[in-house]
Amino acid sequence: MKFGILTSGGDCAGLNAVIRAIGLYLANNVKNAEIVGIPEGYAGLIRGESYPLTKADLEGLLPVGGTILKTRRTPFKRMTVLEEGGTRLSRMVANYKKMGLDCLFTLGGAGTHKTAALLSMEGCNVIGVPKTIDNDIFGTDVTFGFRTAVEVVTDAFDRIETTTRSHSRIMLVEVMGNKAGWLTLHSGIAAGVQMILIPEIPFNLDVVCDTLNARIAAGETYTMIAVAEGAVLDAEARFKKEERAFARPAFGETTVTRHLAEVIGERTGQETRYSVLGYLQRGGTPCAYDRLLCTRLGGYAAKLAVEGRFGVTAAVVGNEITFNALPDIAGKYKFVDPMGGEVACARGIGISFGDRR
Ligand code: F6P
Repeated sequence: MKFGILTSGGDCAGLNAVIRAIGLYLANNVKNAEIVGIPEGYAGLIRGESYPLTKADLEGLLPVGGTILKTRRTPFKRMTVLEEGGTRLSRMVANYKKMGLDCLFTLGGAGTHKTAALLSMEGCNVIGVPKTIDNDIFGTDVTFGFRTAVEVVTDAFDRIETTTRSHSRIMLVEVMGNKAGWLTLHSGIAAGVQMILIPEIPFNLDVVCDTLNARIAAGETYTMIAVAEGAVLDAEARFKKEERAFARPAFGETTVTRHLAEVIGERTGQETRYSVLGYLQRGGTPCAYDRLLCTRLGGYAAKLAVEGRFGVTAAVVGNEITFNALPDIAGKYKFVDPMGGEVACARGIGISFGDRR
């Protein structure tokens, strides 16, 4: 049997660990298993490129960050647009057949799963594995890469806190997560910040500033604020991401952090700084939890292939690895529940979400 593996969308720690687990399971359980890597995600499949992945290629991969297959964002909305020689989708289906694949593993986030569902509908045998530091894939309690990113971001908060405290400042730290605030919420709680701003809970500028002024009046000398990349003012919550940048006071800015720091500095009189963590959140070696999770998810996905169960994606529910049908999860996101236990816990210990006094 011939198996293809691709990694698509933004990378994260653990992609190589999943590739390794898939490869090892197949090598151990399928006679003469042929495994090929498809470079740069769906872009490679559109071009019809693949190369053999041998057991030697998989050696030493477990702790290695990034993806040996390379990755790329290939927007879902362009998959079915008619171009010269058909659509991208039709080219991928043709190349899947030309390569003689019996199964294609797609390691990726929400967008990757949408395209995987399309490929499956077109008759390709597809199995997804849920990846993203954003943890926003519907139907799985956790995605691989998320826990490593929580460790990295928490460590960054800890480091930034010491300088913030030394200087008696207010510090805003911008964390990745455009649609969902999981990474900001978990690392913010883990680091013990005083305010968390996430897309699921639009914040009010007056509430934010009043809360900070109340802290200053109470003698608190510094404040750490975790700001998700997709955090929104209540006034702009109705806008879509693209519209938001142009509706912002700081015209064209995609995130609110810089402008917010400026306003906070003016309205509190306290020295205020901001720090954008950026791509360090996606890089580096996976933590032990992710290595284990990736090994479980990859091995399970390969087992599904051996059993001939296609059109699905691996998932974590409770402490078990299971699967979801691609049409059931494609195009859906998993958001932080503003009324859920984690937010309630944070509010209970005094963390503000900038929405109420
Ligand atoms: O992969 C998810 C993510 O890290 C988001 O949190 C972030 O908004 C985005 O990727 C950044 O993507 P890019 O690598 O395309 O700049």
